[in-house]
Amino acid sequence: KPVEPFDIVVFGGTGDLALRKLLPGLYHRDLDGQLEPQVRIFGAARGTLTREGYQKMVREALKQFVKEADLERAKVDAFIERLQFVRVDASGDAGWDDLRAALEEGTPNDIRVFYLAVGPGLFGTICKKLAEHDLRTPGTRIVIEKPLGTDFASAQAINDAVGEHFEEHQIFRIDHYLGKESVQNLVVLRFANRLFEPIWNATAIDHVQITVAEDLGAGERAGYYDQSGATRDMVQNHILQMLCLVAMEPPASLDADALRDEKLKVLRSLRPIVGDDVRSKTVRGQYRGGAIDGKPVPGYLEELNGHVSTTETFVVVKAEIENWRWNGVPFYLRTGKRLPSRHSEIVIQFKSVPHSIFGEATGGLTANRLVLRLQPNESVKLFMTIKDPGPGGLRLRDVPLNLSFAETFHIRYPDAYERLLMDVVRGNASLFMRKDEVAAAWRWIDPIRQGWEDFNMTPKLYAAGSWGPTDATALIARDGRNWYEDAI
Ligand code: BG6
Repeated sequence: KPVEPFDIVVFGGTGDLALRKLLPGLYHRDLDGQLEPQVRIFGAARGTLTREGYQKMVREALKQFVKEADLERAKVDAFIERLQFVRVDASGDAGWDDLRAALEEGTPNDIRVFYLAVGPGLFGTICKKLAEHDLRTPGTRIVIEKPLGTDFASAQAINDAVGEHFEEHQIFRIDHYLGKESVQNLVVLRFANRLFEPIWNATAIDHVQITVAEDLGAGERAGYYDQSGATRDMVQNHILQMLCLVAMEPPASLDADALRDEKLKVLRSLRPIVGDDVRSKTVRGQYRGGAIDGKPVPGYLEELNGHVSTTETFVVVKAEIENWRWNGVPFYLRTGKRLPSRHSEIVIQFKSVPHSIFGEATGGLTANRLVLRLQPNESVKLFMTIKDPGPGGLRLRDVPLNLSFAETFHIRYPDAYERLLMDVVRGNASLFMRKDEVAAAWRWIDPIRQGWEDFNMTPKLYAAGSWGPTDATALIARDGRNWYEDAI
């Protein structure tokens, strides 16, 4: 179903995010008939570029980032026709009036989306300019994306700077993990099935694991990454957001604030990790050279050309939520670069049955677990114990009830940005972070990082292509548990 017509201005319109994700995402929505003919797309950037030059650039990007089968000539041409380019100096005064004139030409759409695909240092400045140059309409929305600060104070500064010119309901803070199919499916599984909610708590759940493993290194983004590290890059945002969706109380509706109020409560219930807990509940790692898929890959410091760095490229945190539902249920969070494969999943490990009636020689009684795989191959599997078929005695077997999307539904999964961009246009903020969530997440992360500094906890080295430093295994083994490296 088409969304209301809109104008979108992408600041950083010639940058990587715009070319790799945003414009291909908009193209896909166009291909599916969701963009009305009046929709206009404006690339804004500092460089000198003609409209034709920009259109050519985007055409190339589509060739590179959209599957060939989806590149229908007439559709591509029609999409490219929507594009305009405006040269704007984000921090100076040049170009803003041109942008206003371009937006006001013809029949402007009331919904105006400003996507700030630029560094956070420019968020406040751009918002100020938009206000000063009278570019805001009642239907204006502003989209920003991480890094939303590097700690609590800097995140607040961004919130304040943007909030000075836009109402909170106009501000869309993207966390692209919330646009992933499996993450949304988590909410549906939990609240559209009667089965789970009564056992979704400490009585039946032993622990939760959230893993986001990547085989890629910091590579070309090392400049940004080295200032950030795995904790700020992945845990503060994506992983904590997933934790919230696993742990939150049932919201009264899918209304943005109903949902975000519940997530916020989770963030505020996280037990602070301070003092000695920093040593026992967190692990930092950094990859050295190694091999992935049999191919040698350089270490992190080599990628930084020998520059000395204590940035972590791997982190484990044992999180605990201090409320009735989750008392005593650890959430093991783990993410890293240059791990053996790209592999992200949420594992809900249930407890064993309180008493086995099956004796020893039965093939084993395995506790249930629900595994939501985010990537690759999005899927949901519920592992159950059943009787091994056949007459030869009673043998138990652990089998997955398979709800795998790809196999079941045979459809293309939209990229996270596609869904989120359309939600921005619709004004639906359910899948976006409210400012108090961002702040609460930083409040929990900051003391961990402070602890690392106080204890001089530098990252432990791990070979690229391994599952991180041995301390990561030791941390969970101390609790009598282990990581599910291949739960599916
Ligand atoms: C980004 C991080 O937010 O997420 C990157 O900055 C990371 O470092 C990426 O690689 C992972 O996203 P995805 O969708 O590929 O899992």
